[in-house]
Amino acid sequence: MSSHRNTRELMLRALEAGTVIPAFNIPYLPMMEPVVRALRDTGNFGLVMVARLEWIKFEAKGLREIRDQYEEVKDEQYTRLHLDHVPVIDEDQLRVPYLEELTQAVELGYESIMVDGSRLPFGENVAATKRVVDMAHSAGIPVEAELGAVMGHEDGPMPPYEELFASGKGFTDPEEAKRFVEETGVDWLSVAIGSVHGAISAAKKNEKKVEARLSIEQLQAIRRAVDVPIVLHGGTGIRKTYIMEAIKNGIAKINVATAIRQPYEAHRETSVERAQEAVYDAMVKVLHEELELRNSADIINPL
Ligand code: 13P
Repeated sequence: MSSHRNTRELMLRALEAGTVIPAFNIPYLPMMEPVVRALRDTGNFGLVMVARLEWIKFEAKGLREIRDQYEEVKDEQYTRLHLDHVPVIDEDQLRVPYLEELTQAVELGYESIMVDGSRLPFGENVAATKRVVDMAHSAGIPVEAELGAVMGHEDGPMPPYEELFASGKGFTDPEEAKRFVEETGVDWLSVAIGSVHGAISAAKKNEKKVEARLSIEQLQAIRRAVDVPIVLHGGTGIRKTYIMEAIKNGIAKINVATAIRQPYEAHRETSVERAQEAVYDAMVKVLHEELELRNSADIINPL
């Protein structure tokens, strides 16, 4: 058995090695088993994660249920448990008791957590993130936070993608990123450089995602300004050449939800087992074809 390395160390190892840790969302509890199995079968290291909206708007049930399911299927050479997006203000503009929920997650054994204050003005995002960092670090748990606007979770109409990308609206500002990391002590920074989240509203969640691009120049400028691992959200459907370039330029974690959720939803009403196999197949495709990852655990979390 390998020693139980902290996820903070694992992310730094990925960054140093120029590889990426993929992180997979679990909006339905039965998706977790094929996610872990695919990571193990391909020899890759990844994070299993849930976002708050997945127990509110999907069927992840809750922090405790996800943790319990994880305890049943985990494989510590290949996986860790992460809590994705606990927003300070959610996609419906409601305030969230984020500090209480994140504290509960740490107590339940989540091994890294994300606070998302990106809908707040800069100073308030810093203050909220700092509160979470102080709480989590006292328990030895690393924290991810977001600066800039990774759109897509909101229900309203989005401007056409190419317009959004060309304007650079909402992109993370490198100088702000530097101040943000210094003032909060956050471990990993999620940035806006062109990717968008998969839609989650009932009306839009089955749609194919737009093919996103990434501003590698913006990423390079952010990378020069901060020394922490950088996280890319909205990992489904980004043109592959951009993903490869992003990994070379400091992206150490990439979040993937839609690419495995849609295959599950396509089959779950006929058979949960069939839906789980669809998740497994989609996982292998993401790992091998989109991210070109093979046996990354040998580098990131060797025995
Ligand atoms: P996708 O739905 O594009 O894979 O994005 C996932 C994500 O960023 C979750 O935080």
